[in-house]
Amino acid sequence: MTDRDAVLRRTAELAGDFLKRLPDRLVAQPVDLAALRATLGGPLPAGPSDPGRVIEALARDAEPGLVGSAGPRYFGFVIGGDVPAALAADWLTSAWDQNSGLYATSPAAAVVEEVAARWLVDVFGLPPGSSVGFVTGATMATFTALAAGRHRVLERAGWNLEEDGYVGAPAIEVVVGDEAHVTIFASLQMLGLGRARVHRVAADGQGRLRADALRETLATLDGPILVCAQAGNVNTGAFDPLPDIVDAVRSKANAWLHVDGAFGLWAAAVPGLVGHVAGLAGADSWTTDAHKWLNVPYDSGIVICRDPEAHYLAMALAASYYVVAEGGERDSMNFVPESSRRARGFAIYAALKSLGRSGLADMIDGCCRIARRMADGLRGAPGVTILNDVVLNQVLVRFAPPGSREDAEADTFTRRVIAAVHRDGTCWAGGTTWHGMAAMRISVSNWSTTDADADVSVEAILRCANAVAADRSVLVGA
Ligand SMILES: Cc1ncc(COP(=O)(O)O)c(C=O)c1O
Repeated sequence: MTDRDAVLRRTAELAGDFLKRLPDRLVAQPVDLAALRATLGGPLPAGPSDPGRVIEALARDAEPGLVGSAGPRYFGFVIGGDVPAALAADWLTSAWDQNSGLYATSPAAAVVEEVAARWLVDVFGLPPGSSVGFVTGATMATFTALAAGRHRVLERAGWNLEEDGYVGAPAIEVVVGDEAHVTIFASLQMLGLGRARVHRVAADGQGRLRADALRETLATLDGPILVCAQAGNVNTGAFDPLPDIVDAVRSKANAWLHVDGAFGLWAAAVPGLVGHVAGLAGADSWTTDAHKWLNVPYDSGIVICRDPEAHYLAMALAASYYVVAEGGERDSMNFVPESSRRARGFAIYAALKSLGRSGLADMIDGCCRIARRMADGLRGAPGVTILNDVVLNQVLVRFAPPGSREDAEADTFTRRVIAAVHRDGTCWAGGTTWHGMAAMRISVSNWSTTDADADVSVEAILRCANAVAADRSVLVGA
C-alpha cells in the first residue's frame, strides 16, 4: 500500500507535469466519449484499491478528456487559469480540510475570509463595511445578493419574507437589461420571482442597458423593486451606464440595485479601466467571480452587499448545536446559502496577496491589451469583422467567405471557422449569436497568456478561415 506522503509527492509530480505541458498541449483534442467511459468506467471495486495506483490511473485515464482551459490559449466562455499562489493555497485548503461554515470550525478560514473580504471591497472601491460571502460562482453570488435585496424591499413594505414566506407577500417588480446574463434569470427562478415576469429594458448596440428606457420603465412601477444592472457583458464586455442607473433607481422609494460584474467588476482594479465602473459604489449589491479573472481554481464566486443586515437576515441559519460566534468573529455561513463549505477564502487571499494591487491591475490590464492585439490582428484580414468595441477582454469576430453578399452565408461560414479552430486545437474560442449574427467569442482571461500566444492563435484562426474558404463546398447544405 502506497503511503500518504508518497501519494501526495507523486500527485504533485503529476500536477506539475500537466501544468508544464499545458502551454504546448493542444487546447482541445478530439474526445472519444465511448473510450473515456470505458477507461474510467467499470463496476465499483468490490474492495479497497491502493491509493497510489488509483491516482496514477486517474491521471492517465482522465488525460484524453481534459480541456486545456487553464492554459494560455483558451479563450472560451470567460475562464481564467490559476495564479501559482492560488493553486498552491487550494492544495493546502484540501489538505487542511477545514469546514469554513463557522468561526468555531476554522478560526483561520474565518480570519482569512475577513481579510480577503476587506481587500476585495477596497479593490472594487465599494462602501467600507460591505458584507462579503464566498460562494461557488457568480450564479450563487447573484442568488444571494437578490435574496438580500428581496429581504430588504419586502421588509420596507412591512413583510417578513424569511418567516412568512412569499405566499401573500407584496409583489416585487424585477427590472433587468435586455442583455442580462442568463444566470440572473436562473437566480430569479430559484428565488420564486420568475424568469418571465421581469420587466426587460432595451439595450444599445453594445449590450448596455439604456438608462432612458430604465427611467421610463421605473416610472410605471410602484412598490418593492429589484433592478439588475451589468458590469461586463458576456459577449462584448460592455458596461451598463451605472451613474445614470444609480440615479434612476434612487428616485424610487423602495428599490434595490444589483450589479452583475462576474468578470467586469475587476476593471475597478485598473486605473486605466476604473472609469468603466464609475458609479459602481452607488449600488446595493454586487456579484463577481474569482475563478474567472482573479485566476483562482474553480469554484469561487463572491457576493458583496452594502447592507450587511439584509445579507445576514436573508442567509443566516440557526441550530441548537451550532457554536455561534458572539464576539464579532466571522461565521461565514451567515453570508452564503450553504452551511458546511470549502474554505474558498484561502485561494482568494493567496491570489490577492501574491499579486498585490499592482500585480492585479497588470494582470487585468494585460488581458485587455492582448484582446485588443488579437482584434487588431484579425481585423485586417479579408472577410473579418470585429463586431464589438473592444473595451475590455472580449472580442466578437464574424467571418464572411470571400465574395459573399448574403449575411446568412456569413453565419454558416463563421460557424464552420469556429468548428475548424476547435479541430485545429492551437487555441479554443467559442461561438455565440450577437444581434442575430453568428460570431466567434474570444475572451482573454488567463494570467499566463502572452503576446506570442495571441499571435499564434490569430494565425491559427486565419489559417482555419482560409481553409474553410478554400473548401466552399462545406457551406452547402449546412
Ligand atoms: C456577466 C456574467 N454573469 C454571470 C456569469 C455566470 O458565472 P458562473 O458560471 O461563475 O456562475 C457569467 C459567466 O460568464 C457572466 O459573464
